[in-house]
Amino acid sequence: MTDASQQHISKRARQAAGQPISELMGMALSNPNIISLAAGFVDNQSLPTEITRNAAAKVLADGDGSQVALQYGSNHGDNQLRSEILRQSIAMNQDTAGEPVKYNTKLDQVFITPGSNQLLFLLADTMLDPGDIVLCASPSYFVFIGAIRNIGGQTYGVATDQCGIIPESLEAALQQLDAEGNLSKVKAIYTVPYFDNPGGTTLPAARGKQILEIAKRWSRKQKIYVIADEAYRMLRYQGDDTPSIHHWDPELQHTIVVGTFSKSFSPGIRVGWGFIPRELIGPLGDQKSNIDFGAPLLAQKIMATVLDDGCWLSHVEKLRVVYSERRNAMLNALSEHLEGIEGCYWHKANGGLCIWLTLPKHINTGMHGDFIKSAVEAGVIYVPGQYCFASQGEPANHSTIRLTFGVQSAERIEEGVRILSEQVKGWQ
Ligand SMILES: Cc1ncc(COP(=O)(O)O)c(C=O)c1O
Repeated sequence: MTDASQQHISKRARQAAGQPISELMGMALSNPNIISLAAGFVDNQSLPTEITRNAAAKVLADGDGSQVALQYGSNHGDNQLRSEILRQSIAMNQDTAGEPVKYNTKLDQVFITPGSNQLLFLLADTMLDPGDIVLCASPSYFVFIGAIRNIGGQTYGVATDQCGIIPESLEAALQQLDAEGNLSKVKAIYTVPYFDNPGGTTLPAARGKQILEIAKRWSRKQKIYVIADEAYRMLRYQGDDTPSIHHWDPELQHTIVVGTFSKSFSPGIRVGWGFIPRELIGPLGDQKSNIDFGAPLLAQKIMATVLDDGCWLSHVEKLRVVYSERRNAMLNALSEHLEGIEGCYWHKANGGLCIWLTLPKHINTGMHGDFIKSAVEAGVIYVPGQYCFASQGEPANHSTIRLTFGVQSAERIEEGVRILSEQVKGWQ
């Protein structure tokens, strides 16, 4: 029953209350000296201030151009930006695959949003009716899990290993859902193929291809799409890039690619994009026109200029140096303090901004437990893993933690991990 004081609030808004992010921010702010290994922010010092200043000056320099940039734009995004994104992305896939593929993805399939979160939300809102199901990695990106829940959809967690979603487990999950008579509710498989948030895992190209084949094969009642969220693709610190799932589906029949410049350039500019199967463009555009009928054009023009000037990739190179040092600091500190302790393990992410840490079973890392309280008192905060699990399928593991290394210096990361490890040892 609804509390009388809440009756002016919609059910959806009430469901959205108590998001982990706001609670964690509150905890971090209550102690200014706390080392936050929770925040999904990027490094302040390496934000591209100079490049952005120059690009903005260029955009605003000529009369007509600046008037265009300060107007409303089109619902689907600025054409210069859309064609740059498509061109660069296809070139990257061709380079890494080592085999030319004829892409049939056209400019009208490129969809720009103010950050990829909006696109993920729009996709869920466009594809799902209440009760519909999205299969996802266990663990998975908690903001998308929350968005699906908020519109009445369900998430179904699939087992993962060091390489992300296990295809055999995905197959078994679909068999199970079919046996329960729920196959017609399955609308999508969501994956973060490069350096997953939170798992840190990367899907090998062959596995991405397998997941796509499974989606096609099980599209018996209706299409099951693969949503490939490539938010961290550019932040690679080890190994070679691998082609996107888009490469195996150049016509975009089943694949929806989601990208963003938030991690590889600036979240303040907040430009995201999608490569969208033809039949979803109209419905997605209709939903978007209810929200903002177009991402801010000034940000898009600035980003298009940065790409056109060739400044993005050189900036990414600098970010790789900064973040790989921090990732190494975190991995070294974890080895130094937690290696050999039974039940403690983590994955050596080759890129991205997160490390997923599993602690012994008797430690509950949850938001309302004693462990997090004592960690915060000792001076460190993390994201409890509990938020990263789907509502069905693989059960939640309450002894897990998402650590991020994007914001703190290498020294603070080492100190944060040391403090956290002391807590773990004290809990034995
Ligand atoms: C996996 C993943 N997808 C999407 C996003 C959304 O980023 P933005 O909305 O800034 O583009 C994030 C942000 O942390 C993320 O981690």
